Amino acid sequence: MHRRSFLISASAALAQPTKDRTATAIIGVGNRGSFLLGSVINQPNARVAMVCDNKPDRLDKAATVAAASSPKTATDWRKVIDDKSIEAVFIATPPHLHAEMAIAALKAGKHVYCEKPVGVTPESIRDLLKAAKASGRVFQSGQQLRSQVQLGEAIRQIHEGVIGDLLFVKAQRHASADLDYNGSSGDWYFNYRKSGGYLVEQSVHNLDLCNWAIGAHPTRAAGFGGINLHKNEPPGRDIFDHQSLTYEYANGVKLAFTQMVFHPRNLPFNNQSVYVYGSKGSVDLMGSATMYSADGKQQTVLSPKIQEDPDAHTAAFFSSIQKGTKIASDAVVGATAALTAILGNEVCRQGKVLGWSDLGVEL
Ligand SMILES: NC(=O)c1ccc[n+]([C@@H]2O[C@H](COP(=O)([O-])OP(=O)(O)OC[C@H]3O[C@@H](n4cnc5c(N)ncnc54)[C@H](O)[C@@H]3O)[C@@H](O)[C@H]2O)c1
Repeated sequence: MHRRSFLISASAALAQPTKDRTATAIIGVGNRGSFLLGSVINQPNARVAMVCDNKPDRLDKAATVAAASSPKTATDWRKVIDDKSIEAVFIATPPHLHAEMAIAALKAGKHVYCEKPVGVTPESIRDLLKAAKASGRVFQSGQQLRSQVQLGEAIRQIHEGVIGDLLFVKAQRHASADLDYNGSSGDWYFNYRKSGGYLVEQSVHNLDLCNWAIGAHPTRAAGFGGINLHKNEPPGRDIFDHQSLTYEYANGVKLAFTQMVFHPRNLPFNNQSVYVYGSKGSVDLMGSATMYSADGKQQTVLSPKIQEDPDAHTAAFFSSIQKGTKIASDAVVGATAALTAILGNEVCRQGKVLGWSDLGVEL
């Protein structure tokens, strides 16, 4: 018997009643979509009802993984939108496709979990915000840091004033290498129009964390970026390999943000960090969530490290659909993070200081 047929018939006997389980489709089952597929399978209140990918081998693999719920399959994402039995859609395609797919799904009455960045242009993000607000459906962006317990608790205390007045934030996302040119996302990642580059595609997480801690979006930005090492690697590459940015916030706080892909693993201060400086002390937010008092005498762990649940963000989505719980990374949070990154790219590309209002999007 063919492996998938066997899995389907064996699992049919075990299948649970579907009444209270949200019928869910996943569009894009590459690297991240495969993780999300597993995460949906883990939810007792969800059922994988459809999988979609325009690459047949990935589609076949996903259908096999989800065989217990006998999902429908589609290579054309419009089939997901048109299927009235689908209640919720996960979107894990390349970034330039997110907004169009999410808007279509919301307009068809579906709840949407949209991977970050929610869009790569201000115009598409403006349209998405409008659709999300008009839909009355749950919209969650894939910024899963918003569901992390340790970060949430540390930021709650910052907002309560534990470090005094916020003064400055220093953050970075440094890597020791480019993504694999032949990897899963190699066919879109190095194209600025499709990914938005490192800042929009990856640092959107870190910039969101900074906005969250500061409690606002920036009002203007300045910066520089370029390609100093990976010139025309891979061929046609037009995304920066380094950027240095300054954002200013309405309360006077400045954020200094750098990113690069040539920070040796053994050089200190590698990888990702967010330091939040306040009048009473400063916090290493992405590290141990420890506060260092301004007088240099005390160290206090604001929120101990715990084993975070990798499915927490997915669970939050279904909880919001079924119980109406609040979404931590809703459309406004997703849009704000993506727009912060887009603003950072625009100042580098246009070579001038730009304001938030220059993006032309009302939140
Ligand atoms: N939240 C996170 O931490 C996290 C981590 C990794 C990736 N992501 C995001 O997930 C998204 C996907 O990234 P990835 O690394 O999985 O990329 P990927 O290339 O591995 O997967 C994308 C999938 O979408 C499919 N696809 C492309 N166009 C399609 C179309 N028109 N219709 C249907 N399917 C289509 C591709 O065939 C591929 O299988 C990106 O937005 C990325 O930023 C988020």
